[in-house]
Amino acid sequence: MTTTPSGVQAAPRATAAARATDLTKVYGEGETQVVALDGVSVEFRQAEYTAIMGPSGSGKSTLMHCMAGLDTVSGGSARIGDVELTSLKDKKLTQLRRDKIGFIFQAFNLLPTLNALENITLPMDIAGRKPDQAWLDQVVDTVGLSGRLKHRPAQLSGGQQQRVAVARALAGKPEIIFADEPTGNLDSRSGAEVLGFLRNSVRELGQTVVMVTHDPVAASYADRVVFLADGRIVDELHDPTAEAVLDRMKRFDAKGRTS
Ligand SMILES: Nc1ncnc2c1ncn2[C@@H]1O[C@H](COP(=O)(O)OP(=O)(O)OP(=O)(O)O)[C@@H](O)[C@H]1O
Ligand SMILES: [Mg+2]
Repeated sequence: MTTTPSGVQAAPRATAAARATDLTKVYGEGETQVVALDGVSVEFRQAEYTAIMGPSGSGKSTLMHCMAGLDTVSGGSARIGDVELTSLKDKKLTQLRRDKIGFIFQAFNLLPTLNALENITLPMDIAGRKPDQAWLDQVVDTVGLSGRLKHRPAQLSGGQQQRVAVARALAGKPEIIFADEPTGNLDSRSGAEVLGFLRNSVRELGQTVVMVTHDPVAASYADRVVFLADGRIVDELHDPTAEAVLDRMKRFDAKGRTS
């Protein structure tokens, strides 16, 4: 049987872990205006692993940032569970981000003065929460950082820094994890371990993961793939295989060139 810490997976629930409704995001004004998100509606169900794919500049990072309350939206709605992010004042938003959301950034965003372990537990330290030691050990072990916990980011390779960022997002058992190309800087073995770990946290802990990736193999770890182009959702694939994802990407490519 599956484990059910805090009963998250006790029964299938209709409530989405996160939901965007007609979400728009416009950067800049006039000549330099960019419509990064153009009416995106998408639901991320609890205990589901979703991959977001699309060409560079299609709005993937913007979507993640808006859904995680890291950026304001221009229109529409972004919800985490039942909470409408646009309705929250700064303090409440910060609290919600801290308690419910894990974010793995495209750039790792580690604090240079803290060592790996301190970086991993920082969000919990700020929140005044004690880490679950067994879980923390498991996370650290899985991302292969046991021998590097006392090292500062500058003393770690790019891949190791990325693994610290992954561990930091997972350590507090957030309800939803947004990961922006979490394996972009990893060799294929470390990448596979991180992807497997994310998938296990979905299967066994009922966590919800939304992950941006350019890699069809990484996307094949997910339960579904959502494709973005020019700030819009253009397609969706369930139970993806790497081949099916690649095939779909090729078709978009061909369309892009002929239109
Ligand atoms: N802070 C910003 N100010 C102005 N324009 C921005 C800003 N952030 C993103 N954009 C623009 O919004 C669009 C979407 O950017 P976004 O970073 O979401 O793309 P992406 O799909 O994540 O691309 P990549 O795969 O290269 O990371 C791009 O055209 C980008 O230039
Ligand atoms: Mg991006």
